[in-house]
Amino acid sequence: MKYQEISSGSAQVSIIIPTYNESQNILKILKSIQDYLPKNTKAQTIVVDDNSPDGTGKLVEEYMQTVKKITNNTIEVIHRKTKDGLSSAILKGIQFATGNTIVVMDSDLSHPASLLPKMIDALKHPKCDIVVASRYVNGGDIIGWTRKRKFLSRLATVIAKKGLGVRVKDPMSGFFAFKKPIIQGLSFDAIGYKMLLEILVKAKNANVTEIPYTFTNREFGKSKLDSKIALGYLKAVWKLYRFGKQAAKEEKRKSVSFLSKAGRFYSIGAVGLAINYAVSSLFTDVVSNLWYLHATIIGIAVSMSSNFVLNKVWTFEDRNFEPKHAGIQYAKFMGLSSLGALAQLGMVYVLVDHYKVDYPIALVLAVAASALSNFLLNKKLTFKEKVWS
Ligand code: GDD
Ligand code: MN
Repeated sequence: MKYQEISSGSAQVSIIIPTYNESQNILKILKSIQDYLPKNTKAQTIVVDDNSPDGTGKLVEEYMQTVKKITNNTIEVIHRKTKDGLSSAILKGIQFATGNTIVVMDSDLSHPASLLPKMIDALKHPKCDIVVASRYVNGGDIIGWTRKRKFLSRLATVIAKKGLGVRVKDPMSGFFAFKKPIIQGLSFDAIGYKMLLEILVKAKNANVTEIPYTFTNREFGKSKLDSKIALGYLKAVWKLYRFGKQAAKEEKRKSVSFLSKAGRFYSIGAVGLAINYAVSSLFTDVVSNLWYLHATIIGIAVSMSSNFVLNKVWTFEDRNFEPKHAGIQYAKFMGLSSLGALAQLGMVYVLVDHYKVDYPIALVLAVAASALSNFLLNKKLTFKEKVWS
């Protein structure tokens, strides 16, 4: 693979154009992009060519030589050795992109570059992560497709929406833009044509905006979408469906784990009460004749300490006993537990005195509430776990 660029520095917007045999279109689209790009944006256009037999890649390189830096925009080309599919070409482009905003569009002039300013602008909004140029929202249209192609596109869209629960009106669009960070850490199958769909499914909390446009079928060259790619689509949907199921399972596992940890924490609390009682009585009657309040304080200290060790090892499965680390945890645990005890005391007082609740009921309510807050606070602050895990 050869990688070239005519000027360096990182761009704000990276526009990715996959090409295969597009010699009659590529220069027109590159010029059109330069014409329509907002003047104040630093942009990088990345052509990803799969060694097109018609010399598309070479054309781009020659063009790059003639476009010396007149604007603050650059054109780059990635040459891949073989025709490896549209989505994987897009993915390759994304890997090379330096912009924070990524735009993906076709090279055959079906996607109007005049829409770029609107798309880039929409992404400036903090509540917008993905912009889809859409044929299927009000104001969108398709010109030049056969009935059959229109039907197949609609069918594919219905499959995606019903099968994968995607709510976007045009999840099959090949014209879209997004903030690069939203795909960080995700891994993609990049099968066939459906890059946007895969992003929509995997970056599932992203906010999507659709902007209408008119898709105009190409004037030159041929569509590369064949029956093999259509079949690949079904495979891609199936994989994404399984992915969704897996993610749901993962969520469920998390909630079970949350509940089981809470259960352990409560059990240890109960054991702590028993230890507290045993130790206090030991010091008042058996071992020595300590004043009962002193004995109680010792009982509390011992049971809180044993609660700490048990919760560390069992509830939160933390085996790190490095003295400084464990010492800090211990101090936090004691602090939070004391706060919890005070809160419990206050609550009992308020319930009994102000709300005339029976003492035993008030006690149970207060113990439950303070144990819950103890659990959540220690989970988050002492053992540094997410609250919900
Ligand atoms: N590098 C590379 N490798 N580029 C490819 C490949 C490939 O294997 N296959 C296609 N392309 C490029 C084409 O050169 C073109 O720039 C763009 O991808 C779209 O290919 P077309 O063959 O023109 O697709 P289409 O017009 O039939 O389909 C359009 O509509 C679909 C929605 O119905 C595209 O926009 C699709 O992305 C879109 O899903
Ligand atoms: Mn096309």
